[in-house]
Amino acid sequence: MINKPIATVEKWNKKYEGLKIGTTAPTDFLQQHSYLLNSLSYQKACDFACGAGANSIFLAKMGFAVDSFDISDIAINKLDKYSKKNKLSIRAKVADLSQMNFVRNKYNVMNITFFMQRDLMPKIKDSLKKDGLIFYKTVVRNQWTPPRFDKHPDFVLQPNELLSMFADWHIINYNENETNSNASLIARKK
Ligand SMILES: C[S@@+](CC[C@H](N)C(=O)[O-])C[C@H]1O[C@@H](n2cnc3c(N)ncnc32)[C@H](O)[C@@H]1O
Repeated sequence: MINKPIATVEKWNKKYEGLKIGTTAPTDFLQQHSYLLNSLSYQKACDFACGAGANSIFLAKMGFAVDSFDISDIAINKLDKYSKKNKLSIRAKVADLSQMNFVRNKYNVMNITFFMQRDLMPKIKDSLKKDGLIFYKTVVRNQWTPPRFDKHPDFVLQPNELLSMFADWHIINYNENETNSNASLIARKK
């Protein structure tokens, strides 16, 4: 049962109505650093707020069993159909992350792109296993951040904020791109 304001679901459903799954590319930094995944016998991955699921599909094609969560039932239903048709190991579930029960120490790999809710960070970190890897990319505040994000300070990172959220983990890669206002981080849980 989703208690999130209907507006959130409607907004995202509208975006995904015309979406054709499998047509969007996975994030560049997940692709560029996939050697980190190749060299390890990881089993379970998750993609929180997966949207069209490009990163879920990428991880499933690499051999992971992927749990994909999103609040948009339209995106999730399309991803579910696509993965069944293409025999990909993706369990696509409609979920409001702010209401969801996170299972501790469950995943070996986690992907989050362009979703941020600060109060969920401890639960997100807890759900990765020791030595598990997180790939996180989202919008960071800098002088180039598009003005539309001024209305959504809760969704935008402060400079170096993502880095400090994972200060107790082993940081493998961290970048704040000044031209597109994206912060990306790869970290291993100690
Ligand atoms: C900017 S999109 C990013 C989608 C995808 N990760 C990507 O990079 O293409 C943000 C996603 O977060 C989802 N979302 C927003 N609030 C959510 C919530 N409370 N629980 C689960 N998903 C949520 C939206 O439905 C949307 O798919």
